[in-house]
Amino acid sequence: MSYQGLSDVKHAVVTGGSGAIGARLVRRLLDEGLERVWVVDDLSSGYAWLLPDDPRVVLIRADVCGIETLGIDAREPVVFHLAAFFANQNSVDHPPADLHCNGLGTLKTLMWSADIGARCVIYASAGCSIAGHGLDVPIREDMPVSLHLDTPYQITKALGEFYCNYFSPRVPTVRCRFFNSYGPGEVPGRYRNVIPNFVWWAMHGQPLPITGTGDETRDFIFVDDLVDGLVRCAGTPEARGEAINLGTGIQTTVRHLAEVVLALTGSQSAIEYRPRRAWDHSRSRQADIGKARAVLGLEPSVATSAGLERTVAWFRDHLDQIRPVASANF
Ligand SMILES: NC(=O)c1ccc[n+]([C@@H]2O[C@H](COP(=O)([O-])OP(=O)(O)OC[C@H]3O[C@@H](n4cnc5c(N)ncnc54)[C@H](O)[C@@H]3O)[C@@H](O)[C@H]2O)c1
Repeated sequence: MSYQGLSDVKHAVVTGGSGAIGARLVRRLLDEGLERVWVVDDLSSGYAWLLPDDPRVVLIRADVCGIETLGIDAREPVVFHLAAFFANQNSVDHPPADLHCNGLGTLKTLMWSADIGARCVIYASAGCSIAGHGLDVPIREDMPVSLHLDTPYQITKALGEFYCNYFSPRVPTVRCRFFNSYGPGEVPGRYRNVIPNFVWWAMHGQPLPITGTGDETRDFIFVDDLVDGLVRCAGTPEARGEAINLGTGIQTTVRHLAEVVLALTGSQSAIEYRPRRAWDHSRSRQADIGKARAVLGLEPSVATSAGLERTVAWFRDHLDQIRPVASANF
């Protein structure tokens, strides 16, 4: 393990930095003492209010596909590329928009990063992209990439990995395969993940829909543990050129999540079972995190129960900001 910290990094660029994960990453980068963090975000699924009010943060509201035109005068930055059209169901409904951001946006970010001499690009890939639905769990980084992926989002996230490898002789890249992130900062909505939506519905006495039997599992990682993984990828020379899973190595059933959310919110909402989504063939997902441990020294520290408690607390503290956007998002 050779995480060396970010003490020699002054500048960072976070594409998608106003999003659920990006905004937490920006906070962490400020805590690490960076002098300036540029956020490139079109605010299509992110929110300026998630960002810390700090003069070191520069928010540029723009499409990442024009990143080279934005006049960002960063010196040897670490580029965290998180901007994405989110996520599976949205890409099924809008494949060209998915390709625009996740395909062209990633290509342009890599080209620009190479041209300006970025230290490295940390790419937000997805565990689901590589695995498709044919692999046994836990999923290791060296398992074969499927050519039979389930959604346009999975295809374009995999495409981003191909581009990372293509550009890596010109700019070092790390392909971080996120499993399911959750936590403070994720505003609920039609295309969002299950946890913020469960919390929202539970707080409003609405039924919690489970698409499937409820026995389906995912590997849920608390957002600050995931952000720790991203920072470690940037500060660990051995991570360059690698694909690394960012998960917990633990499977949690969707039914368990629903039950914990109902208990934490004191909600009387019912759980309703509905047919699985047509594209969702993956019954269980779990990361093998041996490589993240060995290369990054990463040890996820927030248990699901504690992470859900913090998520519900964040909802209660930010209801005034969440309510208008969540109502419009469904
Ligand atoms: N949340 C998860 O569980 C998860 C799992 C796997 C991978 N990821 C990846 O992690 C990254 C961050 O995810 P998130 O959960 O924070 O999602 P998010 O939707 O909250 O963040 C994405 C951000 O990108 C911005 N964006 C979208 N299109 C853009 C464009 N054309 N130009 C500039 N900005 C644009 C959005 O406004 C948003 O702020 C994404 O790349 C996502 O694919 C997330």
